[in-house]
This record gives sequence, structure tokens and C-alpha cells, in this order.
Amino acid sequence: MEQLSKDRQIIRLEETESTNLYLKQLAREEHLEEGSMVIADFQTVGRGQMGNSWFSSKGENLLFSLLIYPKEVLANEQFIISRIASLAVKNTLDRFTDDIRIKWPNDIYWKEQKIAGILIENDIDNKYIANSVIGIGINVNQQIFPPELSNPVSLWQIIGSVQDRDYILDIFQREFFLLYRDFEKGEIKTIEDEYMLDLYRVNGYYWYEDKNGRFMAKVEDVLPSGHLVLKTIDTEEERKYAFKEVTFVE
Ligand code: BTN
Repeated sequence: MEQLSKDRQIIRLEETESTNLYLKQLAREEHLEEGSMVIADFQTVGRGQMGNSWFSSKGENLLFSLLIYPKEVLANEQFIISRIASLAVKNTLDRFTDDIRIKWPNDIYWKEQKIAGILIENDIDNKYIANSVIGIGINVNQQIFPPELSNPVSLWQIIGSVQDRDYILDIFQREFFLLYRDFEKGEIKTIEDEYMLDLYRVNGYYWYEDKNGRFMAKVEDVLPSGHLVLKTIDTEEERKYAFKEVTFVE
């Protein structure tokens, strides 16, 4: 365990159930400074969004969680944290390849394939976020993925060479805290605008599917709550969706 400064820890583990679980537990037991991180070589129960699991081969990828205490973020406006995390991952991967986009709400895509995933778990205290554990998995050096995973890709598969995971993590930390300082200065609009610019399928009409069937629409907005606003091509009606209420038709 490296002790960076008082209470701020970078904890490196060979194996854990999930870096998010580990960091959440530790943050409950002791006071950790903002920026504390847990990094693992392998997770036995890697967690993804909506109760899915996150599979990553041993020692090849980046699996980490970062703790922050965002000030005055209402629970119903917590999507700003997703925007910051997604942009930080995108800006990091931009150093290595083109064609990185954020697929709403916070998947990171290279072209039509997923290269990174983000799972944010917030503790809410009286309508405000008390702390936020930002879990990130980036496929770095994995060469083969199990066939049951739908569309994964790694940096190795894109670039064709092994990358230093610590170097990528350093870049991520810098990118994250650049955006986070902007957020602390109140520059939320800049972050929202950047997020919109970097969205997957942000321009033009595409097929989507909700509980009533398929329809063609374009992205109008992503609200502070995280809802996606789509405008249908035929009736020009605006429809607002929470995560998992709509899917992108491939
Ligand atoms: C998703 O796309 O479904 C989100 C995946 C998030 C995976 C990361 S890996 C590090 C951290 N620990 C976890 O258990 N999950 C996140």
C-alpha cells in the first residue's frame, strides 16, 4: 500500500471481489481523503451497470475505483459525476487512438465496440451526494475475450502493442482532476457541452427501441438527472428516457 499523503491511499491488490466494494467498505470504516483509489489485477465478482458483471482477464487491464466527495451535488443531479468520469476516460484514451466516443449514459466505445465501462455508486445523505465511488474498467492489454461478451475491444486489439497500465492510470488521474476542478469552480456548462460533443451517435438519426417498439430519432439532450432526450423523426416528439428504458438498435 502506498501512502501518498495523510489519509489518501492508493491501494493495489492482486485480487479482490470488486474494487468498488472494497473502496466503499474501507470508506465506511475510516476517513479516506478524496482521490483515494483501489486498483486490482483481478476481480472475482467484478460488477457492471444494472447488476451485470464485469469480466476482465488477470493482470491485463485496468480495474480501479476512485473516491470523491463532490460538494453540493443533489442526488437528482448526480449525472454530472458520470459526465466527468466518462470524459476523463475518453480524454485518456484519445491519447492512444481516434474514434473514442461516450455511449450514453457512460459506456466508452471505440467505433462500435466497448473499450471501457464505468460504475458509479453514490452514498446519499439528505438529498445530497455524500461520497461517490467511481469504478472504471478499461480493456488495455487483453487479446482474447470470451465469446459471450457482446462487443468488447481492448487497446491492444486496436493498436497492436502492449501498453503500460500505470501510465494510462496516471493520465486518467490528471484528466479526471482537471475536469473535477472545473466542476468545483462551477463550470458545469462547459462539462455538459463537452459531454454532448463526445457522445456516440450524437449527430443524425438512428434507430432506438423502447417498450412500445422501434423508432427513429436523434439525440436532443442529456439532462442533469441523466435522462436521455430523443426527438423522433416522424412526429418530432421529444421522449425522455432513464437508463435501460431505451436501447440503441445496432
Ligand atoms: C459497465 O459497463 O457495466 C460498468 C463496468 C464497471 C467495471 C469496473 S472495474 C472496476 C470497478 N469495480 C467493479 O466491480 N466494477 C467497476
